[in-house]
Amino acid sequence: MATEYRHRKVYVMRKSYAQSNLEIADYVEQTFVPEDTVLISARERAKAEGLPEIQVCSMDALHLEMLVRISGAKKLVEVGTLAGYSGIALMRGAGSGGKLVTLEKDPQCVTVARENFKAAGLSECVEVIEGDALSSLDRIAPDGPFDLVFIDADKGNYANYFDWATKNLKKGGMIIGDNCFAFGTIHQKKFDHPNSKKVAEQLDAFNVAVARHPDFRATMLPTGEGMLVGMKVD
Ligand code: SAH
Ligand code: DHB
Ligand code: MG
Repeated sequence: MATEYRHRKVYVMRKSYAQSNLEIADYVEQTFVPEDTVLISARERAKAEGLPEIQVCSMDALHLEMLVRISGAKKLVEVGTLAGYSGIALMRGAGSGGKLVTLEKDPQCVTVARENFKAAGLSECVEVIEGDALSSLDRIAPDGPFDLVFIDADKGNYANYFDWATKNLKKGGMIIGDNCFAFGTIHQKKFDHPNSKKVAEQLDAFNVAVARHPDFRATMLPTGEGMLVGMKVD
């Protein structure tokens, strides 16, 4: 895990809401208070276990909850669980009758996430599936169609996860993608590292695929990280 996240300091620094104006960001957080004790302890448990602090920021967790509430989605899929922080937010939006299947390849993350979901009182309605997300998606497809898919795992597979979503979301179903500004590099022509070029190209391919798909309407919410929101339409 360590090598995969070697740039994470930079990512976390950039992961702020209204990053262009930190005082407005502070104002918003103090006003809307996006984290309660359950979310704070989920984040702290992850940190204590040594997991990378790459969960969505607290305001994005609130955005996720609100997007689920607004859409009325009940059958949710998340690709990339980490420690369950965003999953808890999604499930708050889904409320009673909500079900989340969340996919995670890292066994330590799976263990911590299950503890966090349990502490949040969500064990009954959240299933954490360990393994490579593409294979897990194949296996859960017969349980669909789903109401909402949140994509937040390996950037190289975002386009493949979207391809799955085109077939396994119901009409009116929603796709949400995190990090769609590619950590601030999505527009760049020149890159310091070959890997950041690759990540920017992969996320651009995803953005373009959703934006141009004839069955989808989509936009980019200008969160710190860029949150793509799309809906499967007629
Ligand atoms: N959604 C989480 C953050 C996810 S971070 C939150 O905001 O709280 C990305 C996660 O995706 C990491 O835990 C990583 O282990 C997982 N991941 C990366 N590639 C994966 C793959 N191919 N299959 C399943 N999980 C993957
Ligand atoms: C990374 C992944 C994320 O989903 C994120 O929000 C930040 C960083 C990463 O792979 O380092
Ligand atoms: Mg992310």
